Amino acid sequence: MNYKIALIKGDGIGPEVVNEAVGVLEAVGKKFGHSFEFVDVLLGGCATDAVGKSYPDGTAEKCKACDAVLLGAVGGPKWGSDKPAEQRPETALLAIRKDLGLYANLRPAALRPAMADACPLKRETAEKGIDLMMVRELTGGIYFGKRDRYQTEDRGVECTDLMAYSEKEIERIGRRAFELARLRRKKVSSVDKANVLETSRLWRSVMHRLAEEYSDVQYEDVLVDNCAMQLVKDPGQFDVVVTENMFGDILSDEASMVTGSIGLLPSASIGDAAPGLYEPIHGSAPDIAGQDKANPIATILSVAMMFRYSFQRSAEADAIEAAVDAVLADGWRTPDIAEPGVKPIGTKEMGRLIREHI
Ligand code: IPM
Ligand code: MG
Repeated sequence: MNYKIALIKGDGIGPEVVNEAVGVLEAVGKKFGHSFEFVDVLLGGCATDAVGKSYPDGTAEKCKACDAVLLGAVGGPKWGSDKPAEQRPETALLAIRKDLGLYANLRPAALRPAMADACPLKRETAEKGIDLMMVRELTGGIYFGKRDRYQTEDRGVECTDLMAYSEKEIERIGRRAFELARLRRKKVSSVDKANVLETSRLWRSVMHRLAEEYSDVQYEDVLVDNCAMQLVKDPGQFDVVVTENMFGDILSDEASMVTGSIGLLPSASIGDAAPGLYEPIHGSAPDIAGQDKANPIATILSVAMMFRYSFQRSAEADAIEAAVDAVLADGWRTPDIAEPGVKPIGTKEMGRLIREHI
């Protein structure tokens, strides 16, 4: 097959980790007989620097002409919250997700066998295994609601951020979660704050309807604060965790750390139409950018998810995941996952070793 892939390298460590992932794509192509056409797409702080806005006109169209999108990371202190919205990299990230209709964000948090020591939890807890799939709603809720800022007479400036959800939005993400659970351990934990929020009460009622329809899947409601606690107490209890946008943003960072490092976790953002967007869940880490210190594994594993979810090619995905596990089992570590006393390797060397195993 020939695949056309949009590359959004972005800011900070983005370009370095994407370069290694591209190398892995090429190695997989060689082994399985695929070829790739890459289209560079400018988005994020680098786009602000080049053309004055973080989300240049025509970005979504360029991506839609491709089979999948691979994104490194965007953001950095240079384009901080004091800058106008159209210059901030985060605005562009939210916009591309919305414009491509990517409402489902899959963030698998699994403790890789070679990484058991990197789990910050008690050994007994790690030994039970951690393998959960966070399904985060990605194009609704408070990140996309109406915002306002105004001057009051007696209370100074006041701001609002609106959290809105429709039944339709909840149902489509819920279905994704139940369908995924059927392919895994058949359990869905739906996370909300139904004891306080109206959006959560609607969320819960829609999920209950789906739970009846998917009666072969075990279902539970979990309040978000309790979920945050359960993730460090007993993460092995979770299979598929489905939740709204902001809760999923926060809980997925927590889940990643529980499995060792945010530098290891990939994500897939998908909708009902192509292309899907694949990106590590970590940020642009400007403090280590350009120093060959970043961990490229999250981006490389995002390529595995691309094969699995966009191209329906699980042999290629398995090969990438096996190569990552083999390199980790051999003891190779980038600085973020190196135990004290272990000499870490750089971004490029990690990429090279993984390619070699493929
Ligand atoms: C993430 C990030 C983004 C998000 C930011 C950068 C807008 O934190 O992908 O988790 O909140 O979605
Ligand atoms: Mg986040």
